[in-house]
Amino acid sequence: MKLKTLILALASAALISPIAFAQAPIVIKFSHVVAKDTPKGKAADRFKELAEKNTKGRVKVEVYPNSTLYKDKEEMEALQLGAVQMLAPSLAKFGPLGVREFEVFDLPYIFPSKDVLYRVTEGPIGKSLLKKLEPKGITGLAYWDNGFKVMSANTPLHSPADMKGLKMRIQSSKVLDAQMRTLGANPQVMAFSEVYQALQTGVVDGTENPPSNLYTQKMHEVQKHVSMTNHGYLGYAVIVNKKFWDGLPADIRTELEAAMKESTRYANAIAQQENDKAMAAVKASGKTTVYTLSGKEQVEWRKALVPVQKQMESRIGKELISSINKESAALLLK
Ligand code: LMR
Repeated sequence: MKLKTLILALASAALISPIAFAQAPIVIKFSHVVAKDTPKGKAADRFKELAEKNTKGRVKVEVYPNSTLYKDKEEMEALQLGAVQMLAPSLAKFGPLGVREFEVFDLPYIFPSKDVLYRVTEGPIGKSLLKKLEPKGITGLAYWDNGFKVMSANTPLHSPADMKGLKMRIQSSKVLDAQMRTLGANPQVMAFSEVYQALQTGVVDGTENPPSNLYTQKMHEVQKHVSMTNHGYLGYAVIVNKKFWDGLPADIRTELEAAMKESTRYANAIAQQENDKAMAAVKASGKTTVYTLSGKEQVEWRKALVPVQKQMESRIGKELISSINKESAALLLK
């Protein structure tokens, strides 16, 4: 076929079916390990909705919840390889990546309130931590809140002494390892997707998580006791593959940043109510005994866990820990 005829044929085809020549959407695979009906699950879906709307369909976000695409550890490797483009791992899961400073968020009682937490995540400390991801080929976009953790096991947990000898599942964080050992328990790192079965079969005796995770993974059905310790925090860093992110057209990136800003506001706005709702459902289920610590018992747990900060100074950095404690003090003086 002569070149002229070929060009005319292609041009007419374009006129007849412009869609065939429309650019394919940019696909963002967003993998996470929690149920859809959790703060992170809902925020991921909100980001999808906003990103596709803001870019008028030039971006398509495929959300893969509840470890359906990748589970813990696998997902971080997949992101660095570019097999997925976006994740929102718990802040307790960056140690194995070599960015151990994120484990500061795991320190027991480091955040006396959400106000202090937001001063950290939305201020210079949070920004500087996200910057540390870039040499790993990762761009940190935002922090999403979940909430404070409760302890659960098949025996009552009223005082720290009740933790002695228990096999407790933790995330891959040396701070959480130190936390459990300081309480006399035996920490066992395990992927989130494996926790329910491990509790059901007795591979581990107990675990810790915010109520939204405990409830949506049905852990309350295989844990006879839940204690409202609120001893530590669990939040997320929303991260993307840096090469992918830097390679986006600037206008698309701007629209995605706006979508991320709004879904972050949404995530943080619903976190507490989602956890309160989950805790109410756990109580209503009648499947487990929920114990609220007395004032005296709360002081006992705090005193028992004070040593962890000192133990972790060399790993996390004394300056970083004291910078967060200074944020707490500054807020108290306000
Ligand atoms: C856990 O592994 O316990 C949590 O990080 C799961 C999650 O992402 O909330």
